[in-house]
Amino acid sequence: MIQLVNLEKTYPSKSGAVTALKGVNLTVEDGDIYGIIGLSGAGKSTLVRCINLLEKPTSGNVIIDGEDLTKVKRARLLEIRRNIGMIFQQFNLLDQRTVEDNVRFPLEIAKVKREEQDERIASLLKIVKLEDKAKAYPSQLSGGQKQRVAIARALATSPKYLLCDEATSALDPQTTESILDLLKEINKTLGVTVIIITHEMKVIEKICTKVAVIDHSNIVENGRVSEVFADPKSDIAKQLIIPDLIRYTAHKTGDRQLRLVFNGELTDRPLISALAKDLGVAVNILYADTKNYDGRPYGHMVITVAGGQAEFDKVVKYLDQNGINYKEQL
Ligand SMILES: Nc1ncnc2c1ncn2[C@@H]1O[C@H](COP(=O)(O)OP(=O)(O)O)[C@@H](O)[C@H]1O
Ligand SMILES: [Mg+2]
Repeated sequence: MIQLVNLEKTYPSKSGAVTALKGVNLTVEDGDIYGIIGLSGAGKSTLVRCINLLEKPTSGNVIIDGEDLTKVKRARLLEIRRNIGMIFQQFNLLDQRTVEDNVRFPLEIAKVKREEQDERIASLLKIVKLEDKAKAYPSQLSGGQKQRVAIARALATSPKYLLCDEATSALDPQTTESILDLLKEINKTLGVTVIIITHEMKVIEKICTKVAVIDHSNIVENGRVSEVFADPKSDIAKQLIIPDLIRYTAHKTGDRQLRLVFNGELTDRPLISALAKDLGVAVNILYADTKNYDGRPYGHMVITVAGGQAEFDKVVKYLDQNGINYKEQL
């Protein structure tokens, strides 16, 4: 388990101190695929670099499996780091080394015996599906292949944690999908806890179990992806998660609108047609973005109710009686 407690980071600069993190608290449980999303400059890279103390926090604690990394000696920190792999947007491979020797690098540092190195490299290249590229050089590989090498290298010392800083941001959508599938597979089969930094919602949507939204050096909301997605509270989360909705509602139809929020509490039944039938009220769906996770609906729907106050009240009462979350869009 990773616990960040009251984490603060300020960088000194000529024009005064720059705050990159303030009062960040976050718990990542074993087995999570934890997404951290925010706009550029929000503090994401600083946050993830504080987890393995590549960046030393100005104050606060980084507690990994009960051990506070801000308090351990240098030698112990280097040991702990072997348990935390990391990959980057720009892959950071060693261009002069072949694929297998890139993967070998951390094994050399960890003083693993040569024949064990070879076995380990073979099994890692199999996991990332690059067995046939062992002797290739990075310059001969595509972006997706380079990131696979970086993943194999990050996993060389069998870490329990894998940190990914914008690992798919330099890749096209299809390659992104395949790298995300690989990360999910690694999480599932090797039990590696994965932390994913991204500015892209689709990355979170595709593989993360939990998400934290970071804005101006702060985590403004976090929780299970299904819940945060269904009902984002902060302006920044709304902007990131439901941009269409925000855009839509910017121009008004004049009718009163209700935004219905589904967060998995209902079974997947045809609510709107049931509502229209039960009440005899005509309802228009202006916007719907609902998804099914585990057979339960999550997401948003914006509706208007034809008629006057009486019809509107009937609909609201119906939603209340059926335990459906809603907000009037103003
Ligand atoms: N080494 C550094 N020195 C000074 N300021 C930095 C440094 N690294 C990051 N910052 C500043 O800290 C803030 C957060 O940056 P960063 O963590 O890179 O955000 P993100 O990864 O979300 O884009 C930004 O204002 C950035 O300019
Ligand atoms: Mg960054």
